Amino acid sequence: MNLLSPQNKSLILFFLFAAIAIVAGLILAIIAITFFPITIVLFIIVKYTPVRNIFTKVYHKIYDYLFYQSEKPRKLLWGFIYDFMCAYFPLNKWRALNYGYALLNENGRILNNLDEQQEEERFCLQLYHMVATNCLKLKDLQGKRVLEVGSGRGGGLYYIHSALKPESCVGVDYSQNQVDFCKTTYGLNQKLNFQQGDAENLTILQIQTFDLIINVESSHCYGNFQRFVQEVTKLLNTGGLFVITDFRAIQEIKQFEEDLQSTGLKLETKEDITINVLQALKLDEKRKQQWMTRHCGIIFRSFFSKFSGVQSSRIFQELSERKTLYLIYALRKV
Ligand SMILES: C[S@@+](CC[C@H](N)C(=O)[O-])C[C@H]1O[C@@H](n2cnc3c(N)ncnc32)[C@H](O)[C@@H]1O
Repeated sequence: MNLLSPQNKSLILFFLFAAIAIVAGLILAIIAITFFPITIVLFIIVKYTPVRNIFTKVYHKIYDYLFYQSEKPRKLLWGFIYDFMCAYFPLNKWRALNYGYALLNENGRILNNLDEQQEEERFCLQLYHMVATNCLKLKDLQGKRVLEVGSGRGGGLYYIHSALKPESCVGVDYSQNQVDFCKTTYGLNQKLNFQQGDAENLTILQIQTFDLIINVESSHCYGNFQRFVQEVTKLLNTGGLFVITDFRAIQEIKQFEEDLQSTGLKLETKEDITINVLQALKLDEKRKQQWMTRHCGIIFRSFFSKFSGVQSSRIFQELSERKTLYLIYALRKV
C-alpha cells in the first residue's frame, strides 16, 4: 500500500490544516475566557451593531480575493479542495459538480434518455448537453474529437461520450484523485480517456488537436484565465469550437470577455443562462439537502452549503440579485 498516494496526501494535508485550526481555535478560546468581560462587550458590538456589516464586508473581501481573484492562492486552494473532496467522498454515485441547467417549467427537463444513475444528476448533465450542442446540431458531434478541460468526476464527459457519440473524448483535470476516480469509474478506452493536467499549461496534449473544447464551471478556479485561452487556441483545429460556461461577478465580465477574444477566437454566440441555472438549483435543492444530511458532518455541511448553491448560499443570492451571472459562450477558431 502506498501511504503517500495522492489520495492519502490530500487527506493528510487536510487533517494537518484541521489540527492547526483546532489549536488556533483553542488559543483564541483561552484568550476569550481569560478576558471574559472584554469578550462579552466585543461579542455584543460585533453581533448587534452596524460593526457587524464591516466584519462581513472584510470577510467577503478576503474570501473573494482568495477564491476568485488571486493567482497562486486561488489555484492552490481549489486544487486542494477538489482533490480532498474526492479522497474524502469517493462515492461512485457523485459524478458531476456543476450548478446545472433547467427549463423554466415545473420539471425543468430537456433530456429524455438518462439512465437511473444519470437521473440523479439530471440538471448537471443538462448543462453539459447545452454546452456540447451549442452551435452544433446533434449529428455534428459524430466524428468529432472532444476535449474537456476541468472534467471533474467525469459524469458530464461520460454523458457526451455515451449519448452524443463523438469520435473521442479526452478529459483533463488538475486533481489527480478525480482523474483516478474517472479511470476506475468509467474504465479507459480509445474513445474516452482522462488525464491529469493544468488548464494553464496543456503541453501534455500537444500532439493532439480537437474539434470541440468544452469548459464547464471550472474557469473561475484558474489563476491566469488568459493563459488557459491561449492553450485552448493552440489545441483547436481550424474551424473548431470552444464552448465555455461559468459564473462571474458582473464587474468581472468585461475582462473575462476580453480575455476570451484575446487570441483571435471569433465569438459566435453568447447566452445569459442565469435564470436556467437558478431554476436547476431550485429543482435540485431537496436532493442536495438530503445528500448533505446523509454524508456530511456538521463541519462539512456548512462548507458544502457554501459551494453547493443551495438557496441559503451566497452564490444563490448573488445569482438571484444578478450581481453574478452565469454565461455560456461559443467561440470559433477561424
Ligand atoms: C466545479 S468543478 C466542475 C467539474 C466538471 N466540469 C463538472 O461540471 O462536473 C471545477 C473543476 O475544475 C477543476 N480545475 C480547477 N483548476 C484547474 C486547473 N488549473 N486545470 C484543470 N482543472 C482545474 C477542478 O479540479 C474541478 O474538477
